[in-house]
Amino acid sequence: MRNLKKNVVQSILRTGVSGLVLSFLAASVAALAQAPAPDSPEIEAKARAMVAKLSLEQKIELIGGVDSMFTHAIPAIGLPRFKMSDASVGVRTWGPTTAYAGGVSLAASWDPELARRIGEGLGKDARARNVNFLLGPGVNIARSPIAGRNFEYLSEDPFLNSTIVVPFIQGVQSQGVIATVKHYALNSQEYNRHNVDSDADERTMREIYLPAFEAAVKQGHVDAVMNSYNLINGVHATQNEFLNLKVLKGEWGFQGILMSDWDATYDSVGAANNGLDLEMPSPRFMNAAGLVAAVKDGTVKESTIDDKVVRLLRTALRYGFMDRPQFDPNDSTYSVADSAIALDGALESITLLKNEGGVLPLDPAKIKTIAVIGPNAWPAVTGGGGSSEAQAFEPVSTLTGIANFAGPNVHVLYSRGLPEITDVMRNTHWAGAVTVATYPGKDFTATPENSTSPFFGDPGMGRRGQGGMSTPGHAVRYSASYKAGKAGKYLVLTAVQGWGTSVKVSADGKELETPPHAEGQVAPFWTLDLSAGQTVNLQADYVPGYGARFGLGIAYAPELVMGEATELARLADAVVVAVGFAPDTEGEGRDRTFELPWGQNALIEAVAAANPHTIVTLTGGVGTDTRGWLDEVPALLQVYYPGQEGGTAIADVIFGKHNPEGKLPVSFDRSWDEDPSYAYYYPVKGADTSLHVTEPNKPPVDYVIPHVKYDDKLMVGYRYWTTTGKHPLFPFGFGLSYTTFSFSNLKAPATAASGSTVPVSFDVTNTGSVAGAEVAQLYVSDPSAKAARPERELKGFEKVRLAPGETKHVTLNLDARAFSYWDEAAHKWTIDPGKFVIRLGDSSENTPLAAELTIQ
Ligand code: BGC
Repeated sequence: MRNLKKNVVQSILRTGVSGLVLSFLAASVAALAQAPAPDSPEIEAKARAMVAKLSLEQKIELIGGVDSMFTHAIPAIGLPRFKMSDASVGVRTWGPTTAYAGGVSLAASWDPELARRIGEGLGKDARARNVNFLLGPGVNIARSPIAGRNFEYLSEDPFLNSTIVVPFIQGVQSQGVIATVKHYALNSQEYNRHNVDSDADERTMREIYLPAFEAAVKQGHVDAVMNSYNLINGVHATQNEFLNLKVLKGEWGFQGILMSDWDATYDSVGAANNGLDLEMPSPRFMNAAGLVAAVKDGTVKESTIDDKVVRLLRTALRYGFMDRPQFDPNDSTYSVADSAIALDGALESITLLKNEGGVLPLDPAKIKTIAVIGPNAWPAVTGGGGSSEAQAFEPVSTLTGIANFAGPNVHVLYSRGLPEITDVMRNTHWAGAVTVATYPGKDFTATPENSTSPFFGDPGMGRRGQGGMSTPGHAVRYSASYKAGKAGKYLVLTAVQGWGTSVKVSADGKELETPPHAEGQVAPFWTLDLSAGQTVNLQADYVPGYGARFGLGIAYAPELVMGEATELARLADAVVVAVGFAPDTEGEGRDRTFELPWGQNALIEAVAAANPHTIVTLTGGVGTDTRGWLDEVPALLQVYYPGQEGGTAIADVIFGKHNPEGKLPVSFDRSWDEDPSYAYYYPVKGADTSLHVTEPNKPPVDYVIPHVKYDDKLMVGYRYWTTTGKHPLFPFGFGLSYTTFSFSNLKAPATAASGSTVPVSFDVTNTGSVAGAEVAQLYVSDPSAKAARPERELKGFEKVRLAPGETKHVTLNLDARAFSYWDEAAHKWTIDPGKFVIRLGDSSENTPLAAELTIQ
């Protein structure tokens, strides 16, 4: 494209052309102008001159969104509206797109250059769809494995997040598209995300939760930031003076646009005076009714409103949005080049966690029959659920990737292994009809209208391919009896969809409780122990939200795994069991379980018992409960959400065409209750407060605010494991390869002046027989610090590609921040002179080399 631009310019200069052609070419050249211009006195003056032409009402109009995904237009000053689109794994604005291995996969690649390429790809995809703002990247810390949006974010470590996010942003913005770093801040759970208050001390914020935002602003020069839904220390993000004014716009010098998450604003004056520049998706609070009088009486200064508008105009002018079309016909909507980037993302991130007896790679010459089994085998699962969902043009599933690789001479056998939940519902034979009592209103107090149905739930739910959504405004009580044919365990399975939908299920009058610490998670399931011929009465109280669907069915647990799955497994030379999460079990707006979705443990166990060459591929944001089957399978690949080329990459890794090189961006727990955030994840009981909110021209609403105490403080992920000396299942930074590597010659100066940059060098050698990539990781320990510090912290890394026998010399520079901690009393970054230890290795737990350094 750069050549095309040059050629166009040269041809204009050389030949001279008619006015019409010239203006067309000029427009094309303008359209090709990409990276934003730096801020300049001219741009500033122009922005201020435009603001001077606007009335107060027009200015206020500009600080609220319109039509869900646009900023406002003011044609009188030549200002068009600007379009926004989610997000970091694909530009989803309309129709299909390129779906990358983004978020957690990108962090698992540990490759900043890949981040830049994905950013550029997304920028091009955005230009091809007329998008001005990309609503990503998300950089919230993966504090807990059950948080619903970890897959969209990056890792548990602020340094890794910072190192990945900077080139990603630069990549997006180099294409003339504004990146939006989100969700600022401390938004590390989905449970009750609109109301929850994240209470954290300043050191915890500065050292763990804010650095990736800081890097995005100070190094990536991101031009938009999105405030999160939650409150921080008692104040909503969108009106949080500390975060928005003191830190973001004050200390970090952010000059761009601070927008709200969608419906995350709670106060007109509070938001206007505390840094919010743009309320999305519509001006519920930052509107004329909420602000005109406040400006007239001086509660909000007009200059404060002007500053918000200047930020929008300044940014738009810098990007040339008013001089050129954002749609760039030189960027393809369907891009083969971007598909190649998507494939690289999947190849670089897939992480080999177990490979007993070298079962992988499979030798394609020896495999005559391969079975691909499991709910995630087909169709492709490219990403998690919610606003980041990107519909790929032709996503490659694990099944099709393996079949394509294996070619025509290998038999490929497939079974889903488990029924779809809709099949379970259809096949549940109730003893008699299901009674349906429909209550007007949202509770079960008024007189219901009674009817019967063959289905336990919305009728569409139990039948394939049929919609059947419920609308809010009523409540439904379903009840039916079920007679157990055989003695044993039965699973009560529910499928619940829709924002704000709630369901309570009871058996024989006793409410089936969601397990402890499962509040707010995806649709649960329960196990009932029934004797042969026993009848159980099931009841579900269902209050639909928006886009709601609900259904319930019962499955006899011993017969849940399809018989064909184990039969096919027995016939095969090797089996790939594709399990894990998917958009309906891991996504925005709710947390997920630590356990695999229902039936999957049983499926893995059954297949592993049928075939010793069982390879498990695990889809999911981060850690998952592997107890019960990990010892039974020789190989485990964590595939995260691998994007549209996932199946191709999985096959390349399994058959050894690509040597796995992903490294865990999070520590993998054995169980959720050993996670360092476990005790602090849910709100402190009995500590709720209330919040009185008045939306202009509407009656006031009282919100209950639960308080989550971030008392795990700095002990997030490997910081906890290495400080306590305990060991997780798989440590942060860990990932196997088909080759071996060694580290040598670690050199650091014996002494360094406080605040200076410290060069650290070492060699990495591929000591095995195939080419591969290793991630050399530098951890810094500060044993003589006055304040308690985590035992080690990641402060440098480098991905090194090596041929067999090859050695590369690497130098990494550790800057002042690598040795600093946040001094609570002094409110600043501090280096305590004294001894530091620099450790080098291939995970947070395996650091064979160490060097000592004294900071003077
Ligand atoms: C999400 C944001 C997203 C926005 C627009 C919100 O629900 O939290 O991440 O960018 O919707 O789709």
